[in-house]
Amino acid sequence: MQELRIEGVSKRYDQVTALAATTLTVAAGEFLTLLGPSGSGKTTLLSLIAGLIASDSGRILIDGQDISGLPPYRRGLGMVFQNYALFPHLTVMENVAFGLQARRLPSSEVQQKTQHALAMVRLESFAQRLPKELSGGQQQRVALARALAYQPAIVLMDEPLGALDRNLREEMKFEIARLHRELGTSVVYVTHDQEEALVLSDRICLMNQARVEQIAAPQALYFRPRTRFAAEFLGESNLFACEVQKGDDGTAFAVTVAALGIRLPCPAAAAQYGNSLLLLRPESIEVAGTAQSAPAGLLALAARIESCQFLGATTRLMLRVGETEVRVLQRTTSLVDLQKFKPGEMVQLWVDPARCHVVEG
Ligand SMILES: Nc1ncnc2c1ncn2[C@@H]1O[C@H](COP(=O)(O)OP(=O)(O)OP(=O)(O)O)[C@@H](O)[C@H]1O
Ligand SMILES: [Mg+2]
Repeated sequence: MQELRIEGVSKRYDQVTALAATTLTVAAGEFLTLLGPSGSGKTTLLSLIAGLIASDSGRILIDGQDISGLPPYRRGLGMVFQNYALFPHLTVMENVAFGLQARRLPSSEVQQKTQHALAMVRLESFAQRLPKELSGGQQQRVALARALAYQPAIVLMDEPLGALDRNLREEMKFEIARLHRELGTSVVYVTHDQEEALVLSDRICLMNQARVEQIAAPQALYFRPRTRFAAEFLGESNLFACEVQKGDDGTAFAVTVAALGIRLPCPAAAAQYGNSLLLLRPESIEVAGTAQSAPAGLLALAARIESCQFLGATTRLMLRVGETEVRVLQRTTSLVDLQKFKPGEMVQLWVDPARCHVVEG
């Protein structure tokens, strides 16, 4: 297990900043995912770590040792990239053994490590096949075995599941999680699939326009995003312009949301006053009939249903509170339940101040 530290590393191509100066640490054994829109610099950062491209500034350290000057093959990193490029004329076993042989390990050790790696991805019985005789998911597992065969302390993966269909992606996702757990390898993983990032990661590094937007554990990033971009990138959101003031007792915060005509006590508000945004996740709002009285501590808002979309396990409601559009996700409990949500009907929305979060304006 090794710690990976990236210090002020950046990359430009002529006028394009592919990665602004970035500093971050991946703890030993940590699973860190780079998540972000296309072109945000994920592959650039990974390629800089791998040594596939040279950085314009900064250094990269493994356990305190500067590896910036080393070529890729001397950095001791495992790599799994999207186009897995197995050697087509070599068998599964030969593909996995290739990197070990290149390192001139004794043949008994090559054999033992190859078999161990194939067992980890559960492909022992496929050892003598050629890549073209395997499914896409099996080929991807060979690529994984190849990267893990020499037991690197750090593995880099760039959208390794991108080319696979949904079922295989699911299967591989759990395989990767299992290997990470069993081997304690540090992983830097690139994806733009939110669910993959949420399921696999110890922390997510959200990237936007060649910069790190926020690094946080999945739940923290989802419930406590720092910026509008982070709030909108993960999941669905309601964001309302708001003003944060010091509460009456001097310590707590109060948030005035003009569009909804409410003022909330908001202890978890950002530590800045003035114009901000209030994030209210659609699943944190409860829908109730107009005659019901709100439980203590919850704010009740009168709302009109605009539309109702049945999504299976959840139902998405678009509503209006005055002129303001609010979206709500409700767990679908029964058919009868759904029939209550008719466009034009008035309902109440119950908002728990504890589930509101203030985001930088
Ligand atoms: N060799 C290159 N020459 C010029 N510009 C490049 C080069 N490689 C990357 N870029 C630019 O750098 C930026 C970051 O690219 P990068 O490949 O890191 O994005 P990404 O986050 O991996 O995107 P995707 O999700 O589409 O793979 C983009 O604007 C891209 O066009
Ligand atoms: Mg990329």
